[in-house]
Amino acid sequence: MTQRISLTRYLIEKQRGHEGKADAPGAIPPQLRLLLEVVARACKSISLAVTKGALGGVLGAAESENVQGEIQKKLDIIANEVLIEANEWGGHLAAMASEEMEGIYTVPNRYPQGEYLLMFDPLDGSSNIDVNVSIGTIFSVLIKAPEGPSVSEQDFLQPGHKQVAAGYCIYGPQTTLVLTVGDGVAMFTLDREQGSFVLTQENVRVPEDTKEFAINMSNMRHWDAPVKRYIDECLQGTEGPRGKDFNMRWIASMVADVHRILTRGGVFMYPWDKREPEKPGKLRLMYEANPMGWLIEQAGGAATDGKQRILDIQPTKLHQRVSVILGSKNEVDRVTRYHAEAA
Ligand code: AHG
Ligand code: MN
Ligand code: MN
Repeated sequence: MTQRISLTRYLIEKQRGHEGKADAPGAIPPQLRLLLEVVARACKSISLAVTKGALGGVLGAAESENVQGEIQKKLDIIANEVLIEANEWGGHLAAMASEEMEGIYTVPNRYPQGEYLLMFDPLDGSSNIDVNVSIGTIFSVLIKAPEGPSVSEQDFLQPGHKQVAAGYCIYGPQTTLVLTVGDGVAMFTLDREQGSFVLTQENVRVPEDTKEFAINMSNMRHWDAPVKRYIDECLQGTEGPRGKDFNMRWIASMVADVHRILTRGGVFMYPWDKREPEKPGKLRLMYEANPMGWLIEQAGGAATDGKQRILDIQPTKLHQRVSVILGSKNEVDRVTRYHAEAA
């Protein structure tokens, strides 16, 4: 029988790599290992709450809006609280930021402060909670700049290539934690009997070519010309310039769409559109596009906003939005080229 490797063991081995050579790719210091264990533990609790559904009284809307003006679901709030409570006392963090909180959450004075900054989308795919479709938690980890004793929103405004860890946990038919610390992507499936995440795939690779795209087609009339051109060519199938038929999927949970792409390839797009032209896109840079973009790159794919690499965007606001095109490299390059040709 092949040996089962738990997330704990996987992380401890990465930590040993750090003791040998601190700047080796994928080597993680003890405080980062602790952070990732704590995030995984929080995801286990969220998974339990999700699984209970109506029996746990977790479905439906809460009576509040978040900073983006979206009606919060009960699970958005529960997941946010679980992540904060799990992470605030361990001494590994300086502060947290979340889709569900307007400002940053500084670790209270009664606890020691660490050097890490944690950002999360506590519950991604909220519209799918009540209809029993896959949802998830997305997270991104940065290091606080050493100067200055206090932590501010400014400390978070670092481009995605500065992330030291990123991942998501998908609550679907299985609960799976997907993680990168900069040396590829690994997947861990939750063993509910044991209560632990077990390594089930390493060296995840996104095929460079694909015949599958994911976009919300109901927005077609609002898209910009390069996106229209790309999708139109896909839809022409064998009779068009691409010379092959394409398939389409849209789950409306970024975690679920990205998980499919990491598993079998594809291209995901939530582009800028003319519904709200002053907004650069719908998805959020810091806790959706950056962590997902890094995971996809670590698996050999690409992620752009149509013009530039997502991970090179210098953020100016915590809740900044961005246009997102990510997945199989050759398709992302093509969409990006169509933008350049149109400019
Ligand atoms: P969230 O539930 O965290 O607000 O994110 C939902 C996002 C993303 O997961 C998904 O790809 C997209 O919104 C779906 O948007 P549409 O309903 O416009 O298709
Ligand atoms: Mn989201
Ligand atoms: Mn969310």
